[in-house]
Amino acid sequence: MLKRIVLLGPPGAGKGTQAEQIAKALGVPHLSTGNILRAAITNRTSIGLAAKEYMDKGQLVPSAVVFESIRETLETVPGYILDGFPRTLLQAEVLTGLAASRNEPVQAALLISVPDEVIIDRLASRRSCPKCNTIYNLKSKPPIKDETCDACASPLLLRNDDRPEVIAYRLEQYAKEISSVIDYYKGEKILHRIAGDLPPEQVTEKILKVLE
Ligand code: AP5
Repeated sequence: MLKRIVLLGPPGAGKGTQAEQIAKALGVPHLSTGNILRAAITNRTSIGLAAKEYMDKGQLVPSAVVFESIRETLETVPGYILDGFPRTLLQAEVLTGLAASRNEPVQAALLISVPDEVIIDRLASRRSCPKCNTIYNLKSKPPIKDETCDACASPLLLRNDDRPEVIAYRLEQYAKEISSVIDYYKGEKILHRIAGDLPPEQVTEKILKVLE
């Protein structure tokens, strides 16, 4: 199985949901730059302070800040599912440079695609656990007890950037940056397209087949 993987896809494509399953199946860490930055905001670290205003507006956080948040981890783990990184050509090139310095190239870039109308519906009903990052959906994956995390009993939150006006802006930002990242991984011959508008278990199955 391939074990150095990047997950690409629009907001709400199911990257976090899939990364959790794939990470368990492969025994590698799930590294979500979104989760790492949100934890930094909660803990009021310098990275969190630098990231907050961008994230609340749905803007990309400057690459230097994002890279600072994951560089140390990336330099030590033997495998990973990177969720939400890279998001720009510059980030893809930086990742390749780091991987080359360790002689451990990225092995697969998985692009999860979902139509915009499905994304908007999914994000409006997403709830997230701020403590353990478990992802729920009030329609398709509700918690057992109203608005409470099944795993750690923390109150669930609607993310600041899941408000309708911010969702639209995030989709625009994604569309602006992603084609150069897709072309980059096509050029590296490691891009795989995955249909994300299927039940989550079926998407996981398709991904695991690609990674075999
Ligand atoms: P980040 O947290 O990475 O957000 P994102 O990429 O916009 O993706 P999401 O977390 O919104 O969605 P997802 O694809 O993980 O979907 P999920 O599995 O939750 O980034 C947030 C912000 O941080 C960015 O806007 C930016 O400011 C900053 N940032 C992060 N990385 C950065 C970087 N590299 N550079 C610069 N800035 C960066 O699923 C969504 C919902 O759908 C859930 O409710 C889930 O239950 C449901 N669902 C999932 N799959 C299915 C399915 N197959 N069928 C039905 N429902 C499903």
